[in-house]
Amino acid sequence: MSFEQNLAEKAAHCEKVLRDMLPSVEGLQGTDRYAAVVVDAMQYSVMAGGKRLRPLFIYETCRMYGGREELAAPFMAALEMIHNYSLVHDDMPAMDNDEYRRGRKTTWVVYGEGMAILAGDALLNYAYETALKAFALCRDPKETAAVVSAMELLARNAGVYGMVGGQCADLEAEKKPEETGEEGLTYIHKHKTACMIESGFQIGAILAGAPKEDVEKLGKIAENIGIAFQIQDDILDVIGDSEELGKMTGSDEKDGKVTYVTLHGLEKAAQDVRRMSEEAIELFDSLSASNGFLRELITNLITRTK
Ligand code: IPE
Ligand code: IPE
Ligand code: MG
Ligand code: MG
Ligand code: MG
Repeated sequence: MSFEQNLAEKAAHCEKVLRDMLPSVEGLQGTDRYAAVVVDAMQYSVMAGGKRLRPLFIYETCRMYGGREELAAPFMAALEMIHNYSLVHDDMPAMDNDEYRRGRKTTWVVYGEGMAILAGDALLNYAYETALKAFALCRDPKETAAVVSAMELLARNAGVYGMVGGQCADLEAEKKPEETGEEGLTYIHKHKTACMIESGFQIGAILAGAPKEDVEKLGKIAENIGIAFQIQDDILDVIGDSEELGKMTGSDEKDGKVTYVTLHGLEKAAQDVRRMSEEAIELFDSLSASNGFLRELITNLITRTK
């Protein structure tokens, strides 16, 4: 099987795990049907495709250390729900004001702003409801302790010391672009994007009982990959193909964003994506376990076009 086929199959598997855990309009009972519109909006935003990279990272790092997929599944779904909530809110007029995502109209355009806020809120809350289900699946105190650590990591990386902090700095930088330099932009990239990738790389390993030293290295690997991922996102916003990306290019310029491209130019941006990814791969090769598929995925992200 080619790498591309393998990736497509694995992403489809992540999507199935997610679909099985997400509330559906058909599944609503009795007066819960009053919540049908928000559930429909959750389904609309989540089930629109997407690369499913974050749950895939959990799945692969768990597998790499011989962990149980059953325990990882609630976290795979939860992390993707949080990622999707962040996108629903990120696209709203008060934030990036974007009308297309994953090849279709954004949630706020279809359901209105109020419902898009609620769909994001609902996804965030349901993510924790879902991840908490892992406790009931634990077979011994060691697994229970691992689930506690994974929950802590999931919550922290999504919150004020993680993605939300990064989104805050991203919006602030729009107001004073000339004051935003290297340090500010690194904070933005690390927090708004790399923190969620870190959850992907570390949660699977933690649940599988990987050595502490490896979990720490995976954090550093994910930080590099996450920052490189956001630089590539910034590059694609300038030179990408809207059709292929499923979102409009030129969004950052329209919003007056400070990006890696505005600060350093396209050429250095591309060089740095490669350098940071290669550093990540070098560290990946020093782990006590290996995963050829994940290694190839990291390499392929360097030249991603969507
Ligand atoms: C988009 O993330 C937001 C960023 C952090 C750049 P992805 O590029 O992973 O989006 P989907 O999930 O594949 O749509
Ligand atoms: C978004 O970064 C990161 C999030 C936490 C949602 P961008 O605003 O650059 O992501 P896109 O380009 O809209 O996908
Ligand atoms: Mg944004
Ligand atoms: Mg955006
Ligand atoms: Mg972007």
